[in-house]
Amino acid sequence: MLIDMKRYYTFLFVCMGCTVAVNGQYKASITIDASKTGATVSPALHGVFFEEISHGGEGGLYAELIQNRGFEESVLPHGTSLVDGFIVPDKSPHYNLPNNQVSDWKLEWPLKSKWPAWRLLKDDESVALALTDEHPLNKATPHSLQVTINQPSSNALVNEGFWGINTVKGETYNLSFYIRTDKQFHGPVVASLQSDNGTILASHTFTTIANSEWKKYSCSLQPTQTDGKAKFVLSFGSKGTVWLDFVSLFPAKTFMNRKNGLRSDLAQYIASLHPAFVRWPGGCFVEGISVANSPDWQTSIGPVEQRAATYSPWGYWSSNGFGYHEYLEFCEDIRADALYVFNIGVSCEYRSGNYVPDDHVDSVISHVLDGIEYALGPVTSKWGRVRAANGHPKPFPLKYVEVGNEQHGPRYAARYNIFYNAIKSKYPQLKLIASMGIGDVNRHTLDSMKKVDIADEHAYKPAFWAMRNTDHFDKYKRGNWDMYVGEYATNSGVGAGNMTAALTDAVYIMSMERNSDLVTMSSYAPLFVNVNDVDWPVNLINFNASQSFARISYYAIKMFADNRASVNWPMTITVMPPAIKKPLYSGSIGLATWDTQTEYADIQIIQNNKTVYTSDFKNRAGEWQLTRGGWKATDSSLTQTAMGEQRLAWLKDRSFDTYTLKLKARRLSGYNAFIIPFAVKNDSVQLRAHIGSWLNSHCVFESVTNAFDVTGITNQFKLEKPIETGRWYDITIEVGVDQVDCYLDGKLLMTYHEPPKFFAIAGKDAITGDIILKVVNASAEVCTTNITLDNVQTIQPEATLITLQAPDGNAENSLEHPLQYIPVVQKISGISRASDFNFQPYSISIIRMHTL
Ligand code: AHR
Repeated sequence: MLIDMKRYYTFLFVCMGCTVAVNGQYKASITIDASKTGATVSPALHGVFFEEISHGGEGGLYAELIQNRGFEESVLPHGTSLVDGFIVPDKSPHYNLPNNQVSDWKLEWPLKSKWPAWRLLKDDESVALALTDEHPLNKATPHSLQVTINQPSSNALVNEGFWGINTVKGETYNLSFYIRTDKQFHGPVVASLQSDNGTILASHTFTTIANSEWKKYSCSLQPTQTDGKAKFVLSFGSKGTVWLDFVSLFPAKTFMNRKNGLRSDLAQYIASLHPAFVRWPGGCFVEGISVANSPDWQTSIGPVEQRAATYSPWGYWSSNGFGYHEYLEFCEDIRADALYVFNIGVSCEYRSGNYVPDDHVDSVISHVLDGIEYALGPVTSKWGRVRAANGHPKPFPLKYVEVGNEQHGPRYAARYNIFYNAIKSKYPQLKLIASMGIGDVNRHTLDSMKKVDIADEHAYKPAFWAMRNTDHFDKYKRGNWDMYVGEYATNSGVGAGNMTAALTDAVYIMSMERNSDLVTMSSYAPLFVNVNDVDWPVNLINFNASQSFARISYYAIKMFADNRASVNWPMTITVMPPAIKKPLYSGSIGLATWDTQTEYADIQIIQNNKTVYTSDFKNRAGEWQLTRGGWKATDSSLTQTAMGEQRLAWLKDRSFDTYTLKLKARRLSGYNAFIIPFAVKNDSVQLRAHIGSWLNSHCVFESVTNAFDVTGITNQFKLEKPIETGRWYDITIEVGVDQVDCYLDGKLLMTYHEPPKFFAIAGKDAITGDIILKVVNASAEVCTTNITLDNVQTIQPEATLITLQAPDGNAENSLEHPLQYIPVVQKISGISRASDFNFQPYSISIIRMHTL
């Protein structure tokens, strides 16, 4: 397959000597000892995970351009009812709640129309619409749209597509629809693509349409202009009634020109990562809002108009047009192994949590086995024959199956054991993946399982978490199982996914690579977001109807995947931070609460043994900016009385560098206890010490990057005992140059350090013999680094340097500037066994040194 590499890398064929920085403040040395080897790096380390979330598939990867093509999207999901604007699953016991408790989870039902995404051009009496289930096209699409035309051609039916339809001049779009008519209607029907201002971009007239039974019509449309936000319009040229169903508009050009295929630009992002595997279809999507709504592979194969839809837990319908067959075919097209996640008869525990009882689990298992047979069975088998009839006699590359998503605990483990035996006895070659809940590999779950091939850890972490926890994987007790980090992302404190996220993700990948004896597979999540329907804060690839861009993390992952070493080389790194340090936490101070009523008094700031500020709420309360909350100043104290998040008061027009903050605090009521902001820049940027977080049980340093985006930036520590209500405590915060200590009643409670910012990992590519050195410099300084290669026979003077760099941590790619921050490839020369490099601020660098 030909991949447009230029889209993903900028090449600079400029020969540069190795740079030697004399003035660099930040210095490091790296020594690689080639006589020793570390862990073998798994060839399957980098995969992808696709889920139907944020319209990633429907209105995204799946190239269909008509939204609600089957007129089924106003129908409630099976087993639910509508109560006060919410869909409520039928009441049955939750899998993980004691005593057969029923979850009270409900989901807002956002649809206001009976025919979502469709409308009339004019709001008049000339045409009337109704949804009907009379005389259905087939079982999968029981509803159709009844269109009664009172005044021919004076009005029209419009489909908005998925927040617009992308029409490209000269390209071909294949239209098809089913229609039946009453005796009066005889045509014509005009189908067109139109701009917002009514300009016709393409049109086709079906002259005679008169049939009492369903009949399919099709044509192709070639727009004369490009419009990223066009609409699809049908107008009717005679009086009478027509019934319309399954209206589909598909670009002729799809990824690898597959019929019913994928949107090329989006599929190409995946293909260009050369993923070892594709995990599909979820995520929570697999679990469903209730078992009755979990995805069913069987309804996602065969003719598209006969596929029943699935309601995504993310709040919209998925047509299953991108179904099991298309997924397996896509894996084959991009030479990736398939990793299919199936539902185990248990729905999402954060939603209804309802389940198929243990004595019915056999039917779920046999359904899963049938699905595996569809992918792998010979053409003589029942489902292998169906696969062949669907155009694919050869088995698909299904290599992994995952037993549910994010399930955990002994009850799940018992069910997992049954599935494991049933699947392994029929398909011993398959690798089975055990889910481990929403976070780390869970010992409680693992130890209740009889046999585990691979355990799936999920890791959504805040900015710099990976820098503070480089030993996360080192600490795992190794066992007879491998780890798959099935979902990872730095997704808080990083805006919508900026350079800080990419730097943190890169360090996280380094940890996985270094521990590849344990971590053999990984995939970032979520993969896609349609910017018009964002269900999750940070996503890898963003798009609208006509544009797309990958976040900087995508390019970081691509650099690591393209330059995966076969084996690690142990190395030593010494980092010498800059000699002169600027204070890092300058700013004002504040007082805050979260769902708690608290009284603060006697605030003092001491610098160089001098008190530079003392509170006086009687006479100078006005120097405090009271932002959010019910603040009340008395003679000596300031009390916050309202419930709610992020209640904040801060000292206006002041800024301090290094200092000691002393105060008294008393918890009056509520859930937590004390929040003391420092380095306050305004009401929405601050660091803070939270004492009595997590329902008054822990303490943690947090960062607030906008008023409500709070990230725990250190690990939470358990308090010896909860903060007592009504008792005054002494709090001292020592704000140093790059360290903050927090004391409670004179006792050190917690310390905040700047996370380390310089990381490296080295390995060898067994095929090319290259030494691959990967370096992350997340600091604001150039890092001048001496690189020494011990026990290396030959080293070529020329090397390849790939750099992904941004001016600061907040930098992001965007729809307007999709390729602003992408890797730059340079040839560099002057390499020897001891060379100096300047690693740029906020950069991820890979140096490939050639030994042959
Ligand atoms: O990736 C988004 C969601 O995060 C997934 O659906 C779920 O598995 C996880 O909790």
